[in-house]
Amino acid sequence: MDSLVIVIFTYLILVKCYIVCQEDSSYFSPAIVETQYLTFDMTQYGPNGGVFSSPNFPNHYPQDTILFYQFIAASDYRVLIEIDHFQVRGVIPQCTHDYLDVFINVTDFNLVYNIVNDQLLHRYCGRTKPPLLISYTNLLLLGFFTEDTQTEKGFNGTFRFISGQPYKNHLVREPCDYIFNSSMSKRGEFLSSTYPGTYLPWQSCNYSFVGLPGERIHIRFRDLVLFKRPNQQHCPVDLIKLYDNTLNPVELQRFLSNFYQTNSFNYQTLPQQTDQHHITDLCGKYTMPLDVYSTSNRLLLYFITTHYGELTDGEQEQFNDRSISLWRKGFYGEYEFFTTLTKLDFISRNRSNQYLLGTECDQTIKSFGQGHGEIQSPNWPNLYKPQTSCTTYLLGLDDRYVLENVEIEFDHFDIDCHLASFVIYNASRIYDYHSRTHSSSVLRSEALITAQKSSSFSNYYQQELDFKDNLSFCGHFKPEGRFVSRSALLKLSLIPIDRLSEKTLPLLNQGGKFQVKYKFVKSYHQVFADEYDRTNSSICNLHYYQSRTNAGKFEPPRSSENDYFSNSNCTFNFYLLNEYSRLLIWYDYFNIADNNYNQCSLDNVTYSYRSYISSTYYSYPYIYCGYRNFPPPYLTSRLTEQYRIHFRSNDDTEAGLGFYGRYEFLNESNILFSSVCRSPFDSIIHINETEQPSGNLSSNGYPENVICEWSYATTNGFQFNLELTMLDLEGSKTKDPPQGCQSSVLRIYSEGKIEELCGQEKDIYILTNSNWFTLQFISLNRQTQDPLQGFSLSWTIVQVKNTLNNNQCLLSNDYFDCKKFSNNRNETLFCIHRSLICDGNVHCQPLSKDDEYPNNCLENFSPRSHFISWLIKHQNYIFIFIVIILSIVMLCISIILIFLCIRTRRRRQRRQRQEQQEQQHEQECLSDETKTKSTKVSLYNNDDNDDDDNNDRDLSHLSILEETVTTV
Ligand SMILES: *[C@@H]1O[C@H](CO)[C@@H](O)[C@H](O)[C@H]1NC(C)=O
Ligand SMILES: *[C@@H]1O[C@H](CO)[C@@H](O)[C@H](O)[C@H]1NC(C)=O
Ligand SMILES: *[C@@H]1O[C@H](CO)[C@@H](O)[C@H](O)[C@H]1NC(C)=O
Ligand SMILES: *[C@@H]1O[C@H](CO)[C@@H](O)[C@H](O)[C@H]1NC(C)=O
Repeated sequence: MDSLVIVIFTYLILVKCYIVCQEDSSYFSPAIVETQYLTFDMTQYGPNGGVFSSPNFPNHYPQDTILFYQFIAASDYRVLIEIDHFQVRGVIPQCTHDYLDVFINVTDFNLVYNIVNDQLLHRYCGRTKPPLLISYTNLLLLGFFTEDTQTEKGFNGTFRFISGQPYKNHLVREPCDYIFNSSMSKRGEFLSSTYPGTYLPWQSCNYSFVGLPGERIHIRFRDLVLFKRPNQQHCPVDLIKLYDNTLNPVELQRFLSNFYQTNSFNYQTLPQQTDQHHITDLCGKYTMPLDVYSTSNRLLLYFITTHYGELTDGEQEQFNDRSISLWRKGFYGEYEFFTTLTKLDFISRNRSNQYLLGTECDQTIKSFGQGHGEIQSPNWPNLYKPQTSCTTYLLGLDDRYVLENVEIEFDHFDIDCHLASFVIYNASRIYDYHSRTHSSSVLRSEALITAQKSSSFSNYYQQELDFKDNLSFCGHFKPEGRFVSRSALLKLSLIPIDRLSEKTLPLLNQGGKFQVKYKFVKSYHQVFADEYDRTNSSICNLHYYQSRTNAGKFEPPRSSENDYFSNSNCTFNFYLLNEYSRLLIWYDYFNIADNNYNQCSLDNVTYSYRSYISSTYYSYPYIYCGYRNFPPPYLTSRLTEQYRIHFRSNDDTEAGLGFYGRYEFLNESNILFSSVCRSPFDSIIHINETEQPSGNLSSNGYPENVICEWSYATTNGFQFNLELTMLDLEGSKTKDPPQGCQSSVLRIYSEGKIEELCGQEKDIYILTNSNWFTLQFISLNRQTQDPLQGFSLSWTIVQVKNTLNNNQCLLSNDYFDCKKFSNNRNETLFCIHRSLICDGNVHCQPLSKDDEYPNNCLENFSPRSHFISWLIKHQNYIFIFIVIILSIVMLCISIILIFLCIRTRRRRQRRQRQEQQEQQHEQECLSDETKTKSTKVSLYNNDDNDDDDNNDRDLSHLSILEETVTTV
């Protein structure tokens, strides 16, 4: 014990000593530390440089070090440094312990030593190693500072010397004013002043491109990485500003004065860019290459950097490692002066047409209300240059009140398929000629349609893109029909096959031409369909093909007042690709102005469908209307080929917003068909009516986003009686006002019947008309958090009694007749299998509960049990009978006993008389012995009587009797 105390005490003293020592050394350290210098001179190492590292690397660097690494290049060279391993004790950005200071704008090392920090690029510590470094002058300085506490591994890296010439080309004024003059060179490169090394903060560099009259400038960024926080919209720290057709934009001066003033305080008050010359601002990272064009012979690129912004830890995580090292790389690109770039005069000069600054030849055409006009290819009426890529954006009005679609039609079209193709985005095609019935007739499969199309339009069809999002054309014949945008925007592009290939034959180098008429057409509000004639409001027939779009929305056309039209007669046609597909319909919104939810005779939605095997359309038996009275989600059944939704409104002015429906074509692998239950693609469950005459089904709780389907069938002649034992789903069809079944539904299909259920329901019995039923449970995204339980159901196979079989159960030995409990309902009578009697569940409902009445229970068992039940029924009689028998037996025994008794007594008397006689004859001994024996036996028997069973007793009685008899 004592020794332990001593050990602890000693330890404490040692610790105290250590702390004191530490404090002492730190106190004295400034005096001890001596600045060291390492020099790496290009004259010594040559341009390929070498390696350098922290002292002792890869072991821990020493404490209390100030070590400067001086890199000296020849006068027109730069120093390039790549740090490899970096592990310095400290946490950015403070770096309170050890750190590495980097100086890349050094003209004289002594200047730095005297006023350290002034020229500092950045201070690095921790594990965030400095990215690639390139000096701004011919010198580069690293300063390594360590504390007197524990140290880490340090750093190592390579250095080399690169030519400074690329940074000097076209430099007209230090530090970074460049002028690229077309008279000096038609093409070349430009880069930021330390690319690809980390750029310096607080720069504003000017790159002016000056061409000859008639020239246009094309610059192509090959690499561009400027500091920008992730998720930042604007460019508040470092940026490139691009200006078209000017070298001295007023806006830039205003911006710069504002920018440097506000930068250190508040990024949010940046001025809005309004200058007509301003093309765009660039910062962050882009997919390369990035092209910028000037409209004429001037272009200005202005590169602005501010403070050395640092990412927070969280932001750093969003970047991957590679981009961390690239985050202040600067930019590098190529420029070229062209006289042959597309002339922009093909763009009409009016207020709706506008050239998009910075692009080669893109334009926007904006609607000011039902305008129209023409678009021509560049160089029209001559052929355009094949490398040209021009895009036209046509923008119709789109606000709460008006929606305009864009409609285009070709006047001329001649585009060499080897050179380019013409692509229309966001449009549907409309054929005006009458063979259109082709496409409105039912589609069998995509392959068939493709074959039809490509044979009739093979001339200009590059691909079978008629119903894809993008329609692409080339060839010598104009594409037939009109093209109507799906929204207010239509995009047209001319896309060269291989833009920069120089290998195109001169013969082919002709380009092509086209002329397009466009029109802004006032439209209904956004109607989505694969095929739809927007130009005729009286025809509202919308088509949705699985072969074209797998999922989407559908809604009736709405007027500019946002309500649907009166006298609407809209049909939404959905075409399934094959019998392995199903269509799911559900609604996000539903408002149809009709308050009679049951009749829906004013405005309404109905369904009809057609299967692969017949051309007849069948109507779905439900009708929908009302405010938020949602139709339940719907899944087409097996073999449905076409599904139609009909929306009708009457001529009154009362209207609503209609509905916002969604559709999705599903196949077997869809996640909605999960493994938690049987899917609609599973096979039918065949039930043998004698082996399994009843069963249960349930949703197993209330899973979300599943579709279950169970199909049952049994032997012909039998039917199913279904009892819904629990229904607890979202929504309600019966509340007032009803809520519909937006997310969930239980559908029960059987011969000639479809039940659609949701909400809470009780006592629902369904007797099928034939030997099958299908149960479908759809549960999509639930709207509420209510704890609901789903459903459970039990089914029983029944034999319906009818006049054909004389209102009797057939096989009455095996089948039990469910008698009707009361007469006031006209339910069909049926019989159930006898094995179900008294199994604890009622199967005769809704007729009666007969099968569970105790009286009926005993009928349940076959012949042997029949007898028992007969016995129980007649138990009273049997009891009386047994009592009588017993009485008779008792009587008989008594009589016998009495008889025996009498006899014995008589004998005894006789014997006594004999004895008396024998006594008289001197034979007394013998008679005494016999008497004792008999008494013994009877004594023995009396003892046993209390414990032993009757048999024994009977036996002993018998033995008594015997004894008595023998004695006798
Ligand atoms: C580089 O250093 C010189 C002299 O110290 C200074 O005038 C100049 O502004 C610096 N350049 C940059 C881009 O920081
Ligand atoms: C730096 O050190 C690591 C080992 O820590 C080594 O693998 C690497 O090659 C070294 N790099 C240079 C440039 O010397
Ligand atoms: C509604 O339009 C369909 C065709 O789209 C047509 O067959 C039907 O007769 C029209 N119904 C009414 C009431 O106009
Ligand atoms: C549905 O609405 C239309 C238009 O008002 C009407 O003609 C039709 O009778 C309605 N359908 C039913 C079944 O009431």
